[in-house]
Amino acid sequence: MKLTVVGGGSTYTPELVDGFARLRNTLPVQELVLVDPAAERLELVGGLARRIFARQGHDGRVVTTRDLDAGVEGADAVLLQLRVGGQAAREQDETWPLECGCVGQETTGAGGLAKALRTVPVVLGIAERVRRTNPKAWIIDFTNPVGIVTRALLQEGHRAVGLCNVAIGFQRKFAALLGVAPADVHLDHVGLNHLTWETGVRLGGPEGEDVLPKLLAEHAEAIAGDLRLPRALLARLGVVPSYYLRYYYAHDRVVRELRGKPSRAAEVAAMERELLRMYGDPALDEKPALLAERGGAYYSEAAVDLAASLLSGAGSPYQVVNTYNKGTLPFLPDDAVIEVQAAVGGHGPTPLPVAGVDPLYAGLMANVTAYEELALQAALHGGRERVFRALLAHPLVGQYADADALTDRLIAHNREHLTWA
Ligand code: G6P
Ligand code: MN
Repeated sequence: MKLTVVGGGSTYTPELVDGFARLRNTLPVQELVLVDPAAERLELVGGLARRIFARQGHDGRVVTTRDLDAGVEGADAVLLQLRVGGQAAREQDETWPLECGCVGQETTGAGGLAKALRTVPVVLGIAERVRRTNPKAWIIDFTNPVGIVTRALLQEGHRAVGLCNVAIGFQRKFAALLGVAPADVHLDHVGLNHLTWETGVRLGGPEGEDVLPKLLAEHAEAIAGDLRLPRALLARLGVVPSYYLRYYYAHDRVVRELRGKPSRAAEVAAMERELLRMYGDPALDEKPALLAERGGAYYSEAAVDLAASLLSGAGSPYQVVNTYNKGTLPFLPDDAVIEVQAAVGGHGPTPLPVAGVDPLYAGLMANVTAYEELALQAALHGGRERVFRALLAHPLVGQYADADALTDRLIAHNREHLTWA
């Protein structure tokens, strides 16, 4: 099996490589191709990747290249994990929205829109080249904002599935609290990427007993602590929102916090410098502990599981993925991209039925879906008014004066990445 990672020079890649090595029985990767335009990073990361394989006795080959077409040729799956503009662009996304009293975050709110506008055209260009060279390859998209990027890919007819580690993180956390194996925890996970709620936690599979009430009764403190939401709020909701919901449920508070500290991008940039220095050490042959301070926990496991199901049927039967709604959530358009449990096989994901969704969550999902549709229009066709419309539709913006001020800032800070600006 041949797998290609576009953005392979990312400091995250050793997490992925470690997963491929540990889980080689589930997903036998014979050739791993890391594609990246940044030659120096690519060699540092590629070198460590080879040492991780060697240390774990994995005989797979690691190839590094800057040539996308050569890299994807013959690949069974292509993983996209790129960041247009790097941490510098992210830093901007996290900063200028605060000037207008709005959350500054890489995927949520106005910063997330900026990221979508920079990213969608680049990802579509890459996907087109993948299709031309290798029409059968599956595209697994980790590139944020995953919901909008996946919708763009599917709309263009690509064989794409969007993936995020929020669900697998909850699965691992709940399994530990319950004292069971992660594979025995099935989440009723519903929403859009980075806008999800766990409405049930079932033992054994989709029909298993729902232990969420018990989990909340016994472990609310541990769960709420991770999310930085009040324990009493979880008890009142009776469901577990993802930590991205804090940007909605505690928006003004988050803005105050963010104004008083360095951006996450600045933190990550410092970590990346240190990680790259470590990767250059020929004695290092495992992923360093520092990598765990990034947000990508378990993403290699999610990737292996998904690729295994798409390519050989060896992965878990049900997985949380981003795919077309197609009636699963009747209050959203069929072509919205949702993040839910799906049965995954060689033909791709088929969402499992979802029981009625409380209007408390359905309303926000519908609102953000409308924003995502408008965001995609803006990313595909450009233009100030399209950016304004997406921001006016966003539940964290909503007022015309803010939407106008944010539109001006978004364009000013992203001119070099926007062909139309
Ligand atoms: C989580 C999210 C990812 C996001 C990451 C950010 O893993 O699911 O979509 O990219 O956090 O982590 P970072 O370390 O870059 O702040
Ligand atoms: Mn994510």
